[in-house]
Amino acid sequence: MPEEELKEVFVHLRNQMRVYEEIGLDPPPLSNAALTYLQFGLQGGMTSSKRVRDQNSLQALRSFIGDCRRCKLHKGRTHLVFGEGSPQAELVFVGEGPGRDEDLVGKPFVGEAGKLLTKIIENGMAVSRKSVYICNVVKCRPPNNRDPERDEIETCIPFLKQQLRILQPKVICTLGRIAGQALLGEDFRITRERGNWHTLGDTPLMPTYHPAYLLRNPSAKRHVWEDVQKIMRRLGLEVKKNG
Ligand code: URA
Repeated sequence: MPEEELKEVFVHLRNQMRVYEEIGLDPPPLSNAALTYLQFGLQGGMTSSKRVRDQNSLQALRSFIGDCRRCKLHKGRTHLVFGEGSPQAELVFVGEGPGRDEDLVGKPFVGEAGKLLTKIIENGMAVSRKSVYICNVVKCRPPNNRDPERDEIETCIPFLKQQLRILQPKVICTLGRIAGQALLGEDFRITRERGNWHTLGDTPLMPTYHPAYLLRNPSAKRHVWEDVQKIMRRLGLEVKKNG
């Protein structure tokens, strides 16, 4: 097939993918490389070094999201909170959505619950917060920290799923009911299913309690520690007896 014709097909497919994302549909079941290629084209996603490629892809996704007005949450936000951490992260934490502090700063988990999450990562797991990746189901703060609504989750979740495709972590850890339900389905029950391994595609997923819940219910911390130990073993990290 002549090169020009191939280019046209490529551009058409890429535009089709954009429409898919805009209307919240999952992309067709292609390999990560093919999806990235279709979504972001040759520039900013297809360099040979994995490090540069990952960064470019996350950056390209961030710029694709842009000054998002796809759902009503944009009206009350100060900053869209995309996520932060290492593009090479083996572990991704997924929370619910930005709270007041995160909205002001533009980074995930920087308030009281975030401080506790950082302690779990740095003191409990003995890895740096920078080495993991932290993001949320919805990228903009729901008013008065209410739960994100179904239409808001449906609008935003293709972006979380694309982040996870780009990152290809070894383990995903969902924090709380909303993140568990968003990735595992509406039947997910946090008290019943936390601490058990699930999968998202081929990726092992461990649901645990949200750190904000732990602030209100400190006795649940021991459960989170059990769940975190399971993650550590899966990642080949040493678990100290009294950790
Ligand atoms: N709670 C969340 O679920 N996410 C954040 O980023 C902060 C608090």
